[in-house]
Amino acid sequence: MRKKVTFVGAGMTGSTMAQLAAQRGYADVVLIDIVEGLAAGKALDIQEASPWAASSVRVTGSTEWRESAGSDVVIVTSGVPRKPGMTREDLLATNAGIVRSVVSQAVEQSPDAVFVIFANPMDAMCHVALEASGLPATRVVGQGGMLDSARYRTFIALETGTSPRDVAAWVLGGHTEATMVPVVSNATVGGVPLTQLLAPDRVRAVVERTTRGGAEIVGLLKSGSAFTAPAYSTIEMVEAILLDEKRVLPACALLEGAYGVEGGYVGVPVLLGAGGVEQVFEIPLSDEEAAAMRRAGDAVKELVSATPAA
Ligand code: LAC
Repeated sequence: MRKKVTFVGAGMTGSTMAQLAAQRGYADVVLIDIVEGLAAGKALDIQEASPWAASSVRVTGSTEWRESAGSDVVIVTSGVPRKPGMTREDLLATNAGIVRSVVSQAVEQSPDAVFVIFANPMDAMCHVALEASGLPATRVVGQGGMLDSARYRTFIALETGTSPRDVAAWVLGGHTEATMVPVVSNATVGGVPLTQLLAPDRVRAVVERTTRGGAEIVGLLKSGSAFTAPAYSTIEMVEAILLDEKRVLPACALLEGAYGVEGGYVGVPVLLGAGGVEQVFEIPLSDEEAAAMRRAGDAVKELVSATPAA
């Protein structure tokens, strides 16, 4: 039987993800949204593209959770995006209520799914989703590091005049401006250390632009936030899980001591397969980067304690 993947939220992010997933053709795709007709309309449009997209999967959309039943992966994109001048943290109370509600309904239909959380502030929303789902932490993973690392690799490529594909660079830590950790100490282009290719002030500029990458797009768009790079970043994770690829990717996982963080969701290199987060890897970091990881852990725990209860 074909695999099944559900995207919760049929806004720009969810529907772009659904389109990419349908195009890849390895799973039936479901879109869920509370707005009457929105998920159904977007799904039908994507389905109707399938002859030209060379895709044989089913794409459906609904307001009803039962449409998502038996999903292998559920991606939570619902929630409100930032407006210019807002931080991701400003969305805490509103999105916590939304994430709690959708996750508890989705898990009833798909108790064996891996949940990928994208709503902001994403790191804190992972804690909300973990609690609302009652699932083991291996099956609740956040997407932030994939996007931030994509931005970091892109900006390094632009600055060095190389292909982003040959840039190996990670953004770990949190998915907020205050807690992101673009790792410089092991960033390379084709194996050449970044610090050999760029002067320190250019490295700093790339790191700064990466950290503010989400806000740069929000500032340009004026309404809404980025959705194309987020969609590609998320689909790469979804594919790793659905196809049990055992990829090692940056994602937000519950740490129980790794990087000096006890009981906090933080972006780290993880092994992603059918079981979700199958392993967390600790990589060597500079003292400064290691301290920033611990601060990311403290920050998410602070946000969690500020999250309004159900
Ligand atoms: C971003 C938002 C979506 O980084 O978190 O673009």
